[in-house]
Amino acid sequence: MVPSALIDAASLPYRAAGRFAWHFASAKLRHDPFFGHLLAHGLIPDHARILDLGSGQGLLAAWLIGAHAWHRHNAWPERWPAPPVPRSIHGIELTERDVSRARIAMRGHTGYAGQIRFECGDIRETPYPQSDVIVACDVLHYVDAAAQEAILRRVRASLAPDGVLLLRVSDAADGFRAALDRAIDFGVQVARSRRTNRLTCRSIGQWLDLLDALRFQVTTLSMGHGAHAANRLLIARPIPESE
Ligand SMILES: C[S@@+](CC[C@H](N)C(=O)[O-])C[C@H]1O[C@@H](n2cnc3c(N)ncnc32)[C@H](O)[C@@H]1O
Repeated sequence: MVPSALIDAASLPYRAAGRFAWHFASAKLRHDPFFGHLLAHGLIPDHARILDLGSGQGLLAAWLIGAHAWHRHNAWPERWPAPPVPRSIHGIELTERDVSRARIAMRGHTGYAGQIRFECGDIRETPYPQSDVIVACDVLHYVDAAAQEAILRRVRASLAPDGVLLLRVSDAADGFRAALDRAIDFGVQVARSRRTNRLTCRSIGQWLDLLDALRFQVTTLSMGHGAHAANRLLIARPIPESE
């Protein structure tokens, strides 16, 4: 169970970025199990160089930095490992307004100046820095199939040998729940950025085949019941060249 006070603390810096940014952060951190799973399962190691593809308004950074600060002064959930201290977080995001919200929110975390960076760019073209953890949460379906594959190839090339890709996708084979995810994501895309790109979704089997072809070893984590039931977190680690 994610402590409500942790969610409040992690979303608070968004007040400086406006009411929408603040309420959106609070609602997303509260209702999307992705963020709790990252911490509960210790999926991000200490001192990781993190690349966040399609970073939106920077919730991943706000969550990790907020959790680290909160953990020092509050009762941490007993079964969770201590939150990681990232070495750096680099977000790449297409929508300028979201980049601006992320930058404003992160200004509050003065101790991390220089370690957190949000770049307005297209993940199909922007160079990726060498990274220990690459996160792509609900973003790859916004680009076409060829671009998905090209992005994953570049992810593979940018990951440290012991690095990890955390890829959150909706399982296109999951019937009406997947269709609902697609409808919501399409609506959000239009409302927030006026883009009307067709979404390109794959079943979990198809994602696994692609990751296997790119020499990733993958474990899959379900997001539980309710609104996120069709979503899966694919935890993909590069298979060493020697194997
Ligand atoms: C559903 S949101 C998820 C945001 C963030 N990953 C999160 O979990 O809060 C998808 C984000 O991907 C961004 N996006 C879509 N296509 C992109 C591209 N080609 N390059 C960079 N960002 C992109 C959108 O602008 C949007 O902010």
